[in-house]
Amino acid sequence: MSNPRADPCVFVIFGASGDLTRSKLLPAIFNLAESGHLPDAFAILGVARPQIDEAAYRAQMREQVRAAEGAPLEPEKWKRIEERLYYVSGEFNDPGLFDQLKKSLAAIGERHHISSNYLFYLAVPPNLFGTVVDGLAAAGLTDEGNGWRRVIVEKPFGYDLASAQALNAELRRGLRESQIYRIDHYLGKQTVQNIMAFRFANGIFEPIWNRRYVDHVQMTVAEDAGIGKRGAYYDKAGALRDIVQNHMFQVLTLVAMEPPISFSGEDVRDEKVRVLHAMPPLTRDDVRHHVVRAQYDGYVKEPNVDPASRIETFVAMRLFVDNWRWAGVPFYLRSGKRLPRRMTEVVVQFKRAPLMLFRHTPIGSLNANMLVLRIQPDEGIALCFNAKVPGPFERLDTVTMDFSYAEHFKAEPETGYETLLFDAMIGDQTLFHRMDMVEAGWQVVSPILEDWNGDRRSKVALYEQASWGPSEADLLIERDGREWRN
Ligand code: BG6
Repeated sequence: MSNPRADPCVFVIFGASGDLTRSKLLPAIFNLAESGHLPDAFAILGVARPQIDEAAYRAQMREQVRAAEGAPLEPEKWKRIEERLYYVSGEFNDPGLFDQLKKSLAAIGERHHISSNYLFYLAVPPNLFGTVVDGLAAAGLTDEGNGWRRVIVEKPFGYDLASAQALNAELRRGLRESQIYRIDHYLGKQTVQNIMAFRFANGIFEPIWNRRYVDHVQMTVAEDAGIGKRGAYYDKAGALRDIVQNHMFQVLTLVAMEPPISFSGEDVRDEKVRVLHAMPPLTRDDVRHHVVRAQYDGYVKEPNVDPASRIETFVAMRLFVDNWRWAGVPFYLRSGKRLPRRMTEVVVQFKRAPLMLFRHTPIGSLNANMLVLRIQPDEGIALCFNAKVPGPFERLDTVTMDFSYAEHFKAEPETGYETLLFDAMIGDQTLFHRMDMVEAGWQVVSPILEDWNGDRRSKVALYEQASWGPSEADLLIERDGREWRN
């Protein structure tokens, strides 16, 4: 069976000379072309400030995609991209740029026989989203009269609830919600999408996926890297905005959601947003006792970071989802930079079996069963259970049944952008944030931000680099008689 192909379209990247374009977007397009998912009627138009000509832009991109792929590009395959790669330079607040763009799009459309479907990717800072969309709208480029027009916006979507709503109002001046694709690259990861397949394509897990059987859920997004060259951005964002409010909440909603009535974008997103709505607002006491913020030692010396910065590079918290399925089951979340290793995983820990049967044996206690969804980098799923150690019936050991993506599917891990770009090209919004989800996410973290911003003396713990965060994070879960799985 041949691969499904994206709709014929022109992929227009604003911010085409930036990091994201070279490290993720073009490599993803290259991979999509390689896997046969792009139609012949396809082209890419880069838009950015540097005043270089098309030939120079193509040469730069060839070099940079090669570097991102880490291997020489197959000349024939790159040629297919290069023949379809165009460039326009200009200032985003100059209406002349959008007139130029319109002309270029018409010419490209004619040359490659592409109907006027345009996918605009805003790989630019959020303060430019409104300017670009206004420019597109004024030039008639958001009007869907003779083809679809879609806009992908990068995260972060807002800085808090109010700024997210203001940003959305700017976008809505020129676009309908169905044209806005708020990207979250975590949702492009195969392992994240597989959470739904795992839960809803198997009959044996769903009956025990609830408060009767689950003791707690813990989620970790750990990175060994620090903030690199992103000090200027990160020192305003911090871990709560950078990872928790979007990536982690998206994974959490997939773990906790009810089965949707269909796999359509709206039905799936309806169920996901209900999970966020079911989280009771944190009180000030909850924030003080069940949220930990911390900074790695040496963070304030990073480039472009305020030497007096109180921004968190680590956050841990305990949340609840107050609905029939999950009432009383804690969800522990933690994420940080400069931890011992890069690892994202979700652990569903089940309640222990009653001990009665073993009370006349030397077996003292039983370990709880755990299901570990390894999102990255060692993608897979493990089920941990107790087994009798060979010999007399006096010892049990915890053993693991393990599924590994790499071993089974022989699949190379992807960036996540391939799936998301493809979905945007076929008009599937399932894996993109709907505005009510963004708002619900901000609502959950608002009390935390208010408390942190309101009290300049509230505690920011320090942690050693390459440790699992501050001792407060251990206490957070140990107080409840549980522990992090490191
Ligand atoms: C980004 C964050 O969204 O995700 C980064 O801004 C983080 O700070 C990155 O490093 C992690 O993504 P991945 O896919 O490399 O784990």
